[in-house]
Amino acid sequence: MPIVRLDKAVTLAGLTRSEARRAIAAGRVRVDGLPVRDGAMQVRPEQVRLDGAPPVDAGALYIMVNKPAGVVTATEDRRLPTVLDLLPPTLRRKGLGPVGRLDRDVTGLVLLTTDGQLAHRLISPRWKAEKRYRARCEGRLTEAEVGAFARGIELSDFTARPARLSLLEAGDDGSVADVMLTEGKFHQVKRMFTAVGHPLTALSRLGIGPLELDPDLGPGEWRHLSEGEVAALKEACRL
Ligand code: URA
Repeated sequence: MPIVRLDKAVTLAGLTRSEARRAIAAGRVRVDGLPVRDGAMQVRPEQVRLDGAPPVDAGALYIMVNKPAGVVTATEDRRLPTVLDLLPPTLRRKGLGPVGRLDRDVTGLVLLTTDGQLAHRLISPRWKAEKRYRARCEGRLTEAEVGAFARGIELSDFTARPARLSLLEAGDDGSVADVMLTEGKFHQVKRMFTAVGHPLTALSRLGIGPLELDPDLGPGEWRHLSEGEVAALKEACRL
C-alpha cells in the first residue's frame, strides 16, 4: 500500500475525513502500536489500527447502478437524489464515487468504486476506454451521420474524437443508434447529435470499456460487479 496521510488511512474504515480526524484526536488511532494524534503523519495503512482493528476494508468496492432519469451523478446534492441514494445506507459511507458523470436526464450504467486508480484510468482520454450509449434522436439518421461521427465532429470549443455510430432504426419520426466514443466532455453526445441536426430525445449508457449494463437491473437497481467484471476492467486499464 502507498504512503498516505494518517487521516486518509483511517477513512479506509468507512469514516469521513472529519470523522477520521475526530477519531485521531480522541486517541482511538495507533500507528505501530503507539497512539498518534497528528492526522498529517505519513503512514502505510497497514501500520494503522482504529480501535484496535486495521482500517483497511476487505477490498475495493465496485458497484454498477442502472441510473434512472432525475437522479444526479454525484455523492451529495442538496435538492436531488444522487446515485449513492440508490444504495443501502451501509454502502453509502464507504467512500464510493462515480466513474464519470451522466446528465440528470440520462439513464443507464454508472460505475461506483472506491478504486481511485481504476476510476482515473477509465475517465482519462489517454486510456481511451470506450463508452457506449443508446441514443434516440429526431429525424432520420443516414450513412452521412455515420461518416461525420467517424471523421470527428467539430463543436464550438473542440473537435470530438472520431466516434462509431451504429444505426439500429432510422425513420422520419426519429432514429435509434448506438454510439461509441472514447472521451466524455460535458454534454458531449447531446452536442454531437445536435451538431449534425438530430437533437437527442433520449440517451442511455450501455457500457464502459468491457463492462456492460446488466439487462436484469431495472431503473434504480444496483449490484456488485463479479470478480470477472472487475478483472476485465483492470485488464483494460492495464492495472
Ligand atoms: N453525453 C451527454 O451528452 N450526456 C451524458 O450524460 C453523457 C454523455
